[in-house]
Amino acid sequence: MKEIKKVTWRSPSNIALVKYWGKKSGVQIPSNPSISFTLENCYSETSVALVEKESKSKAIELRFYFDGKANLAFQLKILKFFESIRKDFPLLNNYGLLIHSTNSFPHSSGIASSASAMSALAMALCDLQEQLNKKKLTAVKFLQRASHFARLGSGSASRSVYPILAQWGKTKTIKGSADEYAIPYSEKVNKIFYSYQNTILIASSAEKKVSSRVGHSLMKTNPFAKARYTQAEKNLKELLSAMKTGDLEKFGNIIEEEALTLHGLMMNSSPSFILMSPATLAMIEKIRKFREDTKLPVYFTLDAGPNIHLLYPKKIAEKVKKFIDTELAQHCENKRMIFDQVGKGPKRVK
Ligand code: PMV
Repeated sequence: MKEIKKVTWRSPSNIALVKYWGKKSGVQIPSNPSISFTLENCYSETSVALVEKESKSKAIELRFYFDGKANLAFQLKILKFFESIRKDFPLLNNYGLLIHSTNSFPHSSGIASSASAMSALAMALCDLQEQLNKKKLTAVKFLQRASHFARLGSGSASRSVYPILAQWGKTKTIKGSADEYAIPYSEKVNKIFYSYQNTILIASSAEKKVSSRVGHSLMKTNPFAKARYTQAEKNLKELLSAMKTGDLEKFGNIIEEEALTLHGLMMNSSPSFILMSPATLAMIEKIRKFREDTKLPVYFTLDAGPNIHLLYPKKIAEKVKKFIDTELAQHCENKRMIFDQVGKGPKRVK
């Protein structure tokens, strides 16, 4: 198969500080604004090669490999996604696509991979289409476009295209914010946040019982939905002010409230579901006790799963490592954890 063009992009996962949970009508339009730290060590690496089409039919020709092996389940998902965006990407009609993807983190680590995977794919597609168009967008427009298409693949993926801190969802609090794509936000925060560490404590690597797609849709009938969307706006505003001044206590209290609200909403959905495990709660208690005893700014957040994301500035990393090893490691599945930190955003690899 003759390869015509190929690009490889590495794109990171992210961890939300103010959570996106619930969609408005429309295509992947969030019910409230969200903001996240971009990670560094947890990433997807995706290469997209354009090859000559095998047939003259209008069908999109795609082969998808994950970790070197053909993966039909992912291929079908991506094919559906490509069908929905083909009018914006003539290359999907004109070439066959050979896609290889890998994750830096183990597949069964309980770390959501859709944000890194969809952002890497969107970066690669936008890059290839731009090369074919022979018309270069400005860097700002290019990332906006990549964020827009990453969002259509997975909402939170829209935030993975920027370094350090990214915000998604229209809000009066931020000029230039939008529902269709995320925007970078790192310039307006205290530099201490650039040094933030994110240690992921794996309480369980089992696959989620309820997908985030179902979780979002259950917000439609959640009796607390309206109060939640008001709270998210307020938390975003207060979080940004804490991040501007470097108020680590206020920052920490808000992110913990956001994590527990997210899980509270799950518990109050109909049907109700619980994604935390006894190990999650044991670790939360110990983190709060450690903070009380040491006065160190160590706070947690949670994704849609049982794993703890511990957040703290680099300058206290040594003390926190001791605490993790002596108090938290025993609650992790096979003592598994991933040491990550705030990162620089996607990059083209080859
Ligand atoms: O992007 P999705 O549809 O997988 O939703 C992600 C939802 C959370 O991770 C729980 C929160 C967030 O804002 O990332």
